[in-house]
Amino acid sequence: MCGIVGAFLATGPVTPVLLDGLRVLEYRGYDSAGLALADGTSQGVRVIKSEGRIANLDNRLAETPLDFDAEDLCAGIGHTRWATHGPPSDVNAHPHGGTGTRLALVHNGIIENYTELKAELQSAGVTFRSDTDSEVLAHLIERALEEAGDLVEAVRSILGRLEGYYALAVLDRHGGRNQLVCARSGPPLALCSTPGGTYLASDILALVAHSNRVVFLDDGDIGRLQANGFEIWDKDGRPAERLATTVEFNSAEAGLGHWPHFMLKEIFEQPDVLARTAFGRIAASGDDVDFEDERLGGDTLADVQRVQVIACGTALHAGQIAAYLIEGLAGIPTDVDFASEFRYRSPCLVPGTLALCISQSGETADTLAAARLAVKHGARLVSICNVDGSSQVRESEGVVLTHAGPEIGVASTKAFTAQLVSAVLLAVRLGRSRESLSREDAAEVLSELRILRSKMGSLLTKEYVEDIKHLARSHMEQTGFLFLGRGVNFPVALEGALKLKEISYMHAEGYAAGEMKHGPIALIDSGMSVFVINAAGPLAGKVRANMEQVQARGGRVVCVGSDPESLTATEEALAVPETLEWLSPILNTIPLQLFAYHVARLRGCDIDKPRNLAKSVTVE
Ligand code: AGP
Ligand code: GLU
Repeated sequence: MCGIVGAFLATGPVTPVLLDGLRVLEYRGYDSAGLALADGTSQGVRVIKSEGRIANLDNRLAETPLDFDAEDLCAGIGHTRWATHGPPSDVNAHPHGGTGTRLALVHNGIIENYTELKAELQSAGVTFRSDTDSEVLAHLIERALEEAGDLVEAVRSILGRLEGYYALAVLDRHGGRNQLVCARSGPPLALCSTPGGTYLASDILALVAHSNRVVFLDDGDIGRLQANGFEIWDKDGRPAERLATTVEFNSAEAGLGHWPHFMLKEIFEQPDVLARTAFGRIAASGDDVDFEDERLGGDTLADVQRVQVIACGTALHAGQIAAYLIEGLAGIPTDVDFASEFRYRSPCLVPGTLALCISQSGETADTLAAARLAVKHGARLVSICNVDGSSQVRESEGVVLTHAGPEIGVASTKAFTAQLVSAVLLAVRLGRSRESLSREDAAEVLSELRILRSKMGSLLTKEYVEDIKHLARSHMEQTGFLFLGRGVNFPVALEGALKLKEISYMHAEGYAAGEMKHGPIALIDSGMSVFVINAAGPLAGKVRANMEQVQARGGRVVCVGSDPESLTATEEALAVPETLEWLSPILNTIPLQLFAYHVARLRGCDIDKPRNLAKSVTVE
């Protein structure tokens, strides 16, 4: 949630630098946006902010003549908000100040004890302007400054009173001096330094325009930015050296190019992403997998007795498919749970458990917390993740990076299929490491994975997409949608429903096809569109029977998959090339992504920034 940027430049103006960073991070939250600016002459900082998108902030800036000389405007912070406490509004937008004008603060996270802190401040005479939890931080730091004088010490002195989690940046101008200090516990913060100045951001995508050498703060760290570099202190107040990470993203990859939406661009990137994620990892022998991470090589996984998959949202659907793959290919008992449930359970993990966390961002609060709990209960943590250097990656004992590149569309597409490819590779690795998967079977899966890219390309032709556009037009007024699947394609049904829900705002539900007759079949009428995902294979006949049960009650069925009989048994169908059943989710998902996209487009929805959502859920 939310995007934070900051910069301390050798010479200004800092405003365009902050705005460019916020535009890159707007996918992380877009309820409001704001800046705080300090220059070389004025007293205090200037805050300009507005509800809604960054375009509104641009307009507000145009209306607000800054009486600074541009080159003096050298330090600033910015924020795009995903509201947790207090509705989106001008007054609830960040940055937040204290009582005076000397400082302003931006915050990502939740201060869980803010009501008692707010009450304490109010009883001391503090007047609050906003409904947010974050404003408490500004007042606490402002009051601590009167004592401490130094901003780093003032920030440190209040952190111990906070419950919850935060990534924050404070800009202070007092006595002719600008100070820019940041701190984190939970949501990420990264820094980079260049000859032109020093930058901070809650997402490396806002830093790669300046440098691809970034430093991530650890939990409890406090950092101070100056024009010529930064200093970091750890949670105990000791000076800390944090190793720089070279990030593989570059800002060109994160661009929209000629595409109408990031989501469509990212759907069409999937064949290349499959190649980048899979092909460099298939061993020369063709019957095993060579991950870059040596902690996953040889017999390092031979002692895995059980796997516990933990993730959220679309990543959880990938995890459910991973569970089928690991049990089916590697013969290891595997459990799957929502990270938000697992973190509050009392998990009974057996010795030899491998916790497999799947996350595109690597910063999802629930997944990180659940992973830490699993490790506390003795599990070994392996992650499938798309952001190198993220918290998830840095805390794992084994990492399978997906090479999807930056995924900007809030609705995950290319990261999802990259997670599936990675899950196939990991299942084969586990099976080979334990010798529970024969060389021949491993070779069969990997050789089919090699040719999957061309099959995936056949789902992205102009003709195929036109068929999907036609289908979207004919279903866009339906009252609801059911997505049905069995086995390894049951989670594909869940994912198809989620895609449609989150970008078109139409109600859709994914269900195990065999469960229809136990209740949901009562929903069937002509207004309910039923997408049945059916791959050629041992379960195809069972799914066909479920499909016929729906048709017998007048349901409107659309078959998606490679089972020839199913495709001819319905008036509406989206054929998918045949492949191994284990790999079929990677292909079956794509027409469902395209269907959701075109329904949302026809309904005029904001596809890349759907209402109420944000790309990385760094709060719980
Ligand atoms: C996917 O379309 C959603 N945006 C959401 O469910 C997402 O998958 C979930 O929040 C998990 O995010 P992560 O993969 O970054 O952990
Ligand atoms: N809890 C803060 C608010 O609601 C920050 C939310 C965020 O991380 O964007 O303003």
